[in-house]
Amino acid sequence: MRALTWHGRHDVRVETVPDPEIVNPHDAILRVTSTAICGSDLHLYDGYIPGMRAGDILGHEFMGEVVETGSDSTLHKGDRVVVPFPIACGECFFCKKQQFSCCDNTNPAETSDATETMYGYPMAGVFGYSHLTGGYAGGQAEYVRVPFSNVGPIVVPDHLEDDKVLFLSDILPTGWMAAENCEIEPGDTVAVWGCGPVGLFAIQSALIQGAHRVIAIDHYPTRLALAKEIGAEILDYREVDVREALAEMTGGIGPDAVIDAVGLEAHGISIDNIADQVKSMAFLVTDRAHAFREAILSVRKGGRVSVPGVYGGFADKFPVGAFMEKGLTLKTGQTHVQRYLKPLLDLIKEGKVDTTFLISHHAPLEQAAEMYKHWHDDQNQFTKIVLKTDMAVPRTEQQEVQHELA
Ligand SMILES: NC(=O)c1ccc[n+]([C@@H]2O[C@H](COP(=O)([O-])OP(=O)(O)OC[C@H]3O[C@@H](n4cnc5c(N)ncnc54)[C@H](O)[C@@H]3O)[C@@H](O)[C@H]2O)c1
Ligand SMILES: [Zn+2]
Ligand SMILES: [Zn+2]
Repeated sequence: MRALTWHGRHDVRVETVPDPEIVNPHDAILRVTSTAICGSDLHLYDGYIPGMRAGDILGHEFMGEVVETGSDSTLHKGDRVVVPFPIACGECFFCKKQQFSCCDNTNPAETSDATETMYGYPMAGVFGYSHLTGGYAGGQAEYVRVPFSNVGPIVVPDHLEDDKVLFLSDILPTGWMAAENCEIEPGDTVAVWGCGPVGLFAIQSALIQGAHRVIAIDHYPTRLALAKEIGAEILDYREVDVREALAEMTGGIGPDAVIDAVGLEAHGISIDNIADQVKSMAFLVTDRAHAFREAILSVRKGGRVSVPGVYGGFADKFPVGAFMEKGLTLKTGQTHVQRYLKPLLDLIKEGKVDTTFLISHHAPLEQAAEMYKHWHDDQNQFTKIVLKTDMAVPRTEQQEVQHELA
């Protein structure tokens, strides 16, 4: 089959690799129909996540049709399913508490030892996200093996096209959980750093969950325009001092809750971010936490801090004093996607949640490597890319001319 494989920093390739096979009775094999590129994939592309090996298949946002099932799978051939990015067993202490992304059973010991050393406890398995999270092959491929297919995937009705349901795999529940972690009360103002797909869905979710105002921060005009379209007030951080602007917009009090939907690769030329960049080159810090810091300093006293943005290692100058003295609450984590599938699918069916407004590009899987480059280099134009396995590769101009001549 064809699949997008990682070979090093800024080096991904579409290659022919062996087809996946059923390994365990709970497995299912999917023929992937749609798969998306995520902001989290950029962290792999940029080489920030350790534990990658040449040839690893990427992709944790995917859906498709079941073509083969193990003896204990609850899926059936022909089912159309969306698959959550964290792999969860459904049976362990954490899964029973609905903390699926903390599952204790899906990351084999040989790969989870590293996360146990780094984080104190081993992490769960994740599709296409390094050998720290199990080394599972991802879904930016024609076929994918889905372990614990009896727990994760949700069967979706045929009348909802792929674009409407694909993002149940990650970014829609991630935006939703980010808003939920803000514990929104009537009248609240929520500020969101980052208008990528996660930030945009966090804005939409915060408004649905009852936020009075949402203020969105980024620097890409196209992404800010999308945020405005769905109801946010917007701030371009190149044009204003974000902390001052937020204080001014909230009568000097500060937003009630803040969401960091940026993560470890913050942009911008603030002093702390430049210091982080220099230190990260010398391996003194791993994560550039500018948005996280700015969110903690901007939120009102007694406010809530929600962090869907991914951090992997260590950050410098974390404002621990502000965090304690202001009496803040912090909630974060890889999304417990399985928990949100059914309620969010219902909202999609009822037309209460729009999942398509942020898609800027569809492309054939065969062009995935080019699409990674665009996703990295042109975040203004490329707001979300969906790769399709059954989409024809457009002919190059030269092929077009040869075709005309023939
Ligand atoms: N918690 C989870 O389960 C989960 C799931 C999916 C993605 N994520 C993470 O969420 C984050 C966002 O994902 P995405 O797909 O939207 O990524 P993305 O890269 O498309 O978007 C990030 C956005 O942040 C903006 N940004 C950068 N620096 C900023 C700053 N200083 N102030 C304000 N905005 C700034 C960028 O311009 C960009 O638009 C990533 O870290 C990703 O890994 C987490
Ligand atoms: Zn993702
Ligand atoms: Zn579990």
